[in-house]
Amino acid sequence: MKPFRIVVAGCGGMAQTWVEYALQRPDTEIVALVDVFPQSARKMQEKYSLSCPTFSSLADALQQVDANLVLDITIPDAHFEVALTAFAAGCDVLGEKPMASSLQDAQTMLDAAQQAGRTYAIMQNRRYLKPIRAYRDLVHSGKIGTPGFATANFFIGAHFGGFRDAMESPLILDMAIHTFDQARFILQADPVSVYCQEFNPKGSWYQGNAAAVCIFEMSDGSVFTYNGSWCAEGVQTSWEAQWRVMGSLGSAIWDGPQIYAEGVKDPEQQAFHRDVERMEAKFTWEGREGHFGCLDEMFQALLENRDPETVCTDNIKSMKMVFGALESARTGRKVLL
Ligand SMILES: NC(=O)c1ccc[n+]([C@@H]2O[C@H](COP(=O)([O-])OP(=O)(O)OC[C@H]3O[C@@H](n4cnc5c(N)ncnc54)[C@H](O)[C@@H]3O)[C@@H](O)[C@H]2O)c1
Repeated sequence: MKPFRIVVAGCGGMAQTWVEYALQRPDTEIVALVDVFPQSARKMQEKYSLSCPTFSSLADALQQVDANLVLDITIPDAHFEVALTAFAAGCDVLGEKPMASSLQDAQTMLDAAQQAGRTYAIMQNRRYLKPIRAYRDLVHSGKIGTPGFATANFFIGAHFGGFRDAMESPLILDMAIHTFDQARFILQADPVSVYCQEFNPKGSWYQGNAAAVCIFEMSDGSVFTYNGSWCAEGVQTSWEAQWRVMGSLGSAIWDGPQIYAEGVKDPEQQAFHRDVERMEAKFTWEGREGHFGCLDEMFQALLENRDPETVCTDNIKSMKMVFGALESARTGRKVLL
C-alpha cells in the first residue's frame, strides 16, 4: 500500500494542477475523486484515466475508501466542511487558500486539526518562486539596513466569472491573502494591526469590493501598505505585485523580472543626496516553483513528521490580515490583530 492514499475534494480548474502533481509522485495513489457536481468528478476521472471511484460527498467517499490524505481544492466556502470531515476520518489535509471564509472558521479548523493530531497545511504557491526567495534574501542582506517600510501594488484586470464574481470581498478574501502572506515572508514579521478601506471602483465587473487600500503595522516595527485592484484594466502589475522595501540604508525593488536594491555607499557621508550603489538579487533557491514547490514542501513535511512551512498555525496569521482588513473596512477603525 502506498504511503499517501489521496481523496481529491473539488474537481474544478485548480484541481488539475494538484492531480497532475499527485500522479507524478510514486508514493501516492488517488483513491477517490469528489465533487458536488458528479459530472465534474467524472470529467477529471476521464481526463487523467483514473480507475478510482467518484463521489458527490466527501463523507461518503471517506466511508468507502481507505484514505489518509484529503486534497481540498473546493471553493473557499466549502473548505470548513471538507477539513472537519477529513479530520474526523483521521486524514491529513492539504488545501487551497484561503483557509476559510471567516477567522472563526479558520480557528475551529486549526483546533480540529490539533485535536485529531492531523496536519493541515495551506497552499501559498507565491512563496515558492525564485524571485521571492531572492528578494527576501536581498531585503535581509544588510545592504538596505533594517527594513522599516514596505509597499505592494497589485493591479490586475481579471475576468474570471464563477464564484469570485459573486463574493462580497473577492480581492481581499481570494487574492490579497497571497500578497499579505508574501509580506510576512519578505519582512519575516507578523501583523500587529490593520486599517483598510475596501471599495468597488467604477467599471468593476465584480458584485463585491474589488479594490482596497490597507496599512499594516508589523511586529518588527515596520509598516506595510497594500494597494490592490482586481478590476484594473491596463498597465497591470505582475500577479506577485510590485514591491518596494525601504530600509535604514537603502531600498529594494521587486517589479516583475527586476529585483535589485540601492544602498548608501557611506552612511557617514554628509550630502543632500548620499551616493548609493546598486546591488542585484542572487537567485540561489533551487526548489521547484509555484504549486509544485509548495506541494513538495508539504509532502516532505508529512514524510518527515514535521510541520510544513504553510501549516495552519502559521497560515492563520495571514488569515488574520485578511479578516482584520475586512473588519477595519466594515467599522472604519484600525483593528488590532
Ligand atoms: N493558489 C492559487 O494560485 C489559486 C488559484 C486559483 C484558485 N485557487 C483556489 O482553489 C480553490 C478552487 O478554485 P477553482 O478555481 O478550482 O474553483 P472551481 O470553481 O473551478 O472548482 C471548485 C470545485 O469545487 C467543487 N465543490 C464545491 N463545494 C464542494 C464540496 N463541498 N465538496 C466537493 N466539491 C465541491 C465545485 O463543484 C467545483 O467543481 C479555491 O479555494 C481558490 O481560491 C488558488
